[in-house]
Amino acid sequence: MSESICRVEVALGPRSYAILIGQGLIATAGPQITAALPGAKAALVADATVLKSHGPAIVRSLGEAGILAGEPVIVPSGEASKSFGELERVTRQLLQMGLERRDLIIALGGGMIGDLVGFAASILRRGVRAVQVPTTLLAQVDSSVGGKTGINTPEGKNLIGAFHQPSLVIADLDTLGTLPVRELRAGYAEVVKYGLLGSKAFFERLETSFTRLLDGSSPEERADMVKTCCEMKAGIVARDETETGERALLNLGHTFGHALEAAAGFSQRLLHGEAVAIGLCLASRFSELNGHCPKGTAERVERHVAAAGLPVSIGSVSFGRTVIPSALVRLMQQDKKVVRGNPTLVLLSDIGSAFISRDHGWEAIERFLENQMHG
Ligand SMILES: NC(=O)c1ccc[n+]([C@@H]2O[C@H](COP(=O)([O-])OP(=O)(O)OC[C@H]3O[C@@H](n4cnc5c(N)ncnc54)[C@H](O)[C@@H]3O)[C@@H](O)[C@H]2O)c1
Ligand SMILES: [Zn+2]
Repeated sequence: MSESICRVEVALGPRSYAILIGQGLIATAGPQITAALPGAKAALVADATVLKSHGPAIVRSLGEAGILAGEPVIVPSGEASKSFGELERVTRQLLQMGLERRDLIIALGGGMIGDLVGFAASILRRGVRAVQVPTTLLAQVDSSVGGKTGINTPEGKNLIGAFHQPSLVIADLDTLGTLPVRELRAGYAEVVKYGLLGSKAFFERLETSFTRLLDGSSPEERADMVKTCCEMKAGIVARDETETGERALLNLGHTFGHALEAAAGFSQRLLHGEAVAIGLCLASRFSELNGHCPKGTAERVERHVAAAGLPVSIGSVSFGRTVIPSALVRLMQQDKKVVRGNPTLVLLSDIGSAFISRDHGWEAIERFLENQMHG
């Protein structure tokens, strides 16, 4: 096994696990899994697109280690697969394969497959272990870590789910080589989020190295970026696993972003990370206008987000229909984080320092959005 593997520990007592970050890791998945979780058979559940490019290497490695259970279970690519229908199909296929309680399920793909398979693992035989093999930047820096799993229903996104921590995360940076650039950029919005919410030094590093991070010309810097994000998320999750407090900071940019995603119909018109990018700019601007952070903060955030090729304003989104500020506010009110009707916002006191605020009413938010859209 390569020596240039970074390792981040998620310290959760008996549910602790390691995140492995490096190049060429998929080809070593068999021995990595055997070393960390001896004695288990592993069923592979994969995103159809990802299976084509990265399936053969992982299947070979699992086969050579003698731990592969059955044929890979293939899930159609796309958010629509995070559904009860796919959950039923996948779990029943795994049962028919004879997967036992002490075995494990490997999720190969982005956040869609990670959420679906993580949830399947939480309910299969009342819970089996899951190994996450994230193949999008978003999944490597965010969704594969922390144990939030779930599916969507017509009532909303991620409303059915469970906390189920993975037993191992294997983030192979080489998989990003086949990721469409739009998806890569969208994942980068979550990277920027970590800088803004918890480390000015990291944000400043991003400002100087983002070109290399996006074009992949410096694998070392990419590894360092993914590691820093995972360390920050691991720290927050270890302190607040089920989001009773600090973990909510990870939603920076997401309350605004979620409303924009919903207004765009959760479609290719606006990817999650693109909505987060605009959400980060809006949260910075709202913070600055309300005197929470120094003047110039919002402009600096917007400059970096735009330089990375991400959208910064609501005006740049083609929603496919007319969207008015009050409609966005209504969508924000449906957010899971709303407590008894009061808006819960994550705001900035500076770059690298976020806080949770319940001090601003819906009217102020609507006025703010009005200005952002027409001002
Ligand atoms: N659990 C959490 O904490 C958490 C956090 C953030 C987001 N999420 C969830 O994550 C999902 C979004 O994840 P995502 O952005 O990774 O989307 P995704 O999994 O749908 O992947 C995006 C697209 O990229 C393709 N793809 C993935 N890896 C590839 C690769 N290496 N090469 C080529 N194509 C590849 C996929 O087939 C898909 O078409 C959403 O469902 C969201 O709710 C969960
Ligand atoms: Zn997100």
